[in-house]
This record gives sequence, C-alpha cells and structure tokens, in this order.
Amino acid sequence: MVVERSRAADLSQSYLDKGERYIAPANSRYFNIVAERGEGSYLWDVNQERYLDFAQGIAVNNVGHCHPKVVEATRKQIGKLIHCSAVTHHTLNVALAEKLAQISPGDLDCVFLNNSGGEAVDAAIKMARFVTGRPNVIAFNGGFHGRTLLATTLTTAKAHYREGYEPLPSGIFFMDHPYCFRCPINKSPSSCALDCFDLFEQMFHRVVKPNSVAAIILEPVQGEGGVVAPASSYPDGSAYMRRLREICDQHGILLILTRCKQVSVAPDSGSLLKILASFRMFRLWPKELQAAFRWPGSLPLKN
Ligand SMILES: Cc1ncc(COP(=O)(O)O)c(C=O)c1O
Repeated sequence: MVVERSRAADLSQSYLDKGERYIAPANSRYFNIVAERGEGSYLWDVNQERYLDFAQGIAVNNVGHCHPKVVEATRKQIGKLIHCSAVTHHTLNVALAEKLAQISPGDLDCVFLNNSGGEAVDAAIKMARFVTGRPNVIAFNGGFHGRTLLATTLTTAKAHYREGYEPLPSGIFFMDHPYCFRCPINKSPSSCALDCFDLFEQMFHRVVKPNSVAAIILEPVQGEGGVVAPASSYPDGSAYMRRLREICDQHGILLILTRCKQVSVAPDSGSLLKILASFRMFRLWPKELQAAFRWPGSLPLKN
C-alpha cells in the first residue's frame, strides 16, 4: 500500500531491467517495487515512495524493518566475528540453542540451527528416516514446505512449484487436508464425526503400511494452501490434531509440525513463545518443531 508518493523520476526501471538480465527467474517477485530501505512497518523504494508493508518478509519479519535493537546487536557482532562454519564452535549459537531449549515445551531440548525453512524441512525428514529406519513420509495436500528438492516434493500448494522438476524423490505420500470449508469427503461439520480421518485407515490399507512411515509432516496452519487450520469449523477445533498425535504414537511415526507464521504475526509478536502458543491452541506438543524462520528481523541464524 503506497502511503506517500514521490515526484522524483522513476529510478526503478533500470533495476528491474538489470534484475531480469542478471537474476535467475526462479527468484521471482510479487511486485515491481525496488526497495531501498525500511523502518518499522514502512518500506521506501528507490523513488522514495513510502509503503506500509503488510507483508514484512512474508510474515517472518515480526519485529519490523531494521529494528534498532537488531541493528545494534548485528553491528556489534559483525565487528567481532561473523562466520566460522563447522570448523570451530561459536559462543553465540551455543547460547541461542540453550535459550531455545529452555523455552521450548515438552521434550524439545535440542536445537538444529540452519539457514532456511527448506533446509529445516529436509533436515527433519532426514532425521525421521535416520531415527526410525523407515523410508516413507506423509504430507498434506495444499502444503508448502520450501524450494529444496525434498521440500519441493512435499509441496502441493501449487503445481507450478513442482513443474519441470519431476521425477521428484520417492517415498512421499499425500493426505487430504482436513479443510471443513472445502471438505475432501463432502461432509459438513455438524453431521461429521471427523470422518476425513478415516482416509488414514484407507491409506494405510491401500497405499503405504504404517510401519514403513517415518513421519507425518504438516503445517498446523497452512499458509500457501490458503491459511487453513485443520478442521477448524469442526466443534472441537483441536480434535483432528490430537487424533493425529494418537495415530503417530500408535504406529511409532514421528509428527513433524512446521512453523505457523500466520499465528506468529499477531500484534506485538516476534517471540518463539508466540509461535508455541499456536501449539497450545491445538493442545498438543510436537516431538520436533520446525521454526527455522528468521526471528531476528529476517537474519539467517546458522552461525
Ligand atoms: C511452512 C513453510 N515451510 C517452509 C518454507 C520455506 O522456507 P525458506 O523460504 O526459508 O526456505 C516456507 C516459506 O514460506 C513455509 O511457509
């Protein structure tokens, strides 16, 4: 949303032309706005037009653009030590991991830090396969999990994310998302006993044995799929998630929940605790939580 128009000459076109020439088309953008600086809720483009930024890095920049505390802490750190990869330990990622473990619920007491959501998804699937010794994974139709090859394979929010990359890795199966408004089995919440859950029985009978499934992965609130919470119109809003937990426990399947950014963008949020509140909303605790998004003003977290 433009809140201030500038009378200056349009400087964006040359950036757009060069961007088209030099940046891979896979890095597509939603708008032809060429951003130059940001402060809190506002963005300024190269023409000094000011925008009220409702997107904020697609909801991951919860503290706003260039929050003074983030800027100050970053300045301080980059003057001291920026990167040491896997060669040495780093004081700050130890401190961060400890903090995250302390504030995370249940058994979540160990942290894998990495750069992006896609990598976190890949790592979670690798870990699930490694720990269970099982090959298969169930994801939900309409989900978005990122752009790495495995995350692309798990993604069915839009066919164009997959188009041109097939054949995608095997061992991934899809369950219909329990979306009451567009019920996959044409029921209505008032006369339904969460019947869509029976699709798991069918899947386990016809498609994949549960004892070969390493993990079930879902976004507790789908983002790209349309901001959909599971069976949210059903009288007991958390029932589907609790049954999912039960079925995972029954078959020794790991339940992987990926970050719920739609919940975490509530006003004044920005803390892991707000993200965790979404799990409280569903009254279940994950055994593994993916929260690879960049809380500190979208800076990558790895080292
Ligand atoms: C639920 C979910 N998982 C994974 C990703 C991928 O994250 P990244 O772009 O940091 O790889 C996204 C990105 O929007 C996402 O919404």
